[in-house]
Amino acid sequence: MFMDYIEVSLILPILQPTKDEFIKFLVRSFYGMQDNEYLMENDEEAIRLDIKTDDMIVKKQALWAGIKPGMHVADICFGSGKTTAVLYKLVQPNGTVIGVDGSEKAVEYAKKHYGTKGIEFKCKNILKPFDELGTFDLVWVRFVLEYYRAESFEIVKNISKLVKPGGILCLIDLDHNSLNYFGLPQRLERTIFAAMKVIEEKANFDPYAGRKLYSFLYDLDYQDIDVDIASHHRIFGKLKDKDAFNWKKKIEVLSQKIDLKFEEYKEGYRGFIAEFDRFFTDPRRFTYTPIILCKGFKPVR
Ligand SMILES: C[S@@+](CC[C@H](N)C(=O)[O-])C[C@H]1O[C@@H](n2cnc3c(N)ncnc32)[C@H](O)[C@@H]1O
Repeated sequence: MFMDYIEVSLILPILQPTKDEFIKFLVRSFYGMQDNEYLMENDEEAIRLDIKTDDMIVKKQALWAGIKPGMHVADICFGSGKTTAVLYKLVQPNGTVIGVDGSEKAVEYAKKHYGTKGIEFKCKNILKPFDELGTFDLVWVRFVLEYYRAESFEIVKNISKLVKPGGILCLIDLDHNSLNYFGLPQRLERTIFAAMKVIEEKANFDPYAGRKLYSFLYDLDYQDIDVDIASHHRIFGKLKDKDAFNWKKKIEVLSQKIDLKFEEYKEGYRGFIAEFDRFFTDPRRFTYTPIILCKGFKPVR
């Protein structure tokens, strides 16, 4: 850590980073995350994504985005590869899909479970240039920008280079992410909101990514932009196994990676989890997160 400060004081005048780049450097120095490390990265992430992804919903979203048979599509940060497989079916006959993800484990999982002729899975960091990938009729980016609060617009600018002139860029993300509940005990509510603030500030997470998507396409001069809003994480009644697994895993991974405080609970994390579990398994509880879809056509110049 001490070395980081010496190094940064030497290189700052040379690199002249922007304010966001400098904040990112400090955050990652303090919290020990590797540069570009995906917040949810862990050995079971591809399985978590596979279980929670509903292919009928992906299909509905992709049709809204304007996917058509014969298209050449890029699925950016594909996760388990399930979304890529849905997109592939929708571009048949004659269409192709390339899935890009920064995790070797994700690529391995996707090739094993969804690999087929016409789908290519590549390991690639979206924070780096995409030069060799070519251009696409539709570029699809779902649940990605929320992990990069400081860089989201720069990422969209980089990804936009993959869209053919006249092609479609579709951005999908959550808004007010995991912050809407009815039936929460007050102490639990305070703890969840405080934890989200810490995750936002210390781990570059953006619980409000959804509401920014329109401005990204607008600022990049996309044409005929359209926006749709639906509900995600809509949970009521008997808890489904897939929701139980997804939320348990999210809380477990986040509390391992980030130093969250559970000060209102005598038993700390264990007390918090026990109370969250009681709330979450109660069929009377209600929770949802808005999901915002935004699409536009790249200008033909
Ligand atoms: C929440 S998942 C989204 C998966 C999929 N798009 C979906 O709709 O279900 C985020 C994915 O982004 C990938 N990712 C995160 N940071 C990345 C980066 N810098 N470069 C490439 N992929 C990244 C992760 O490996 C993960 O698979």
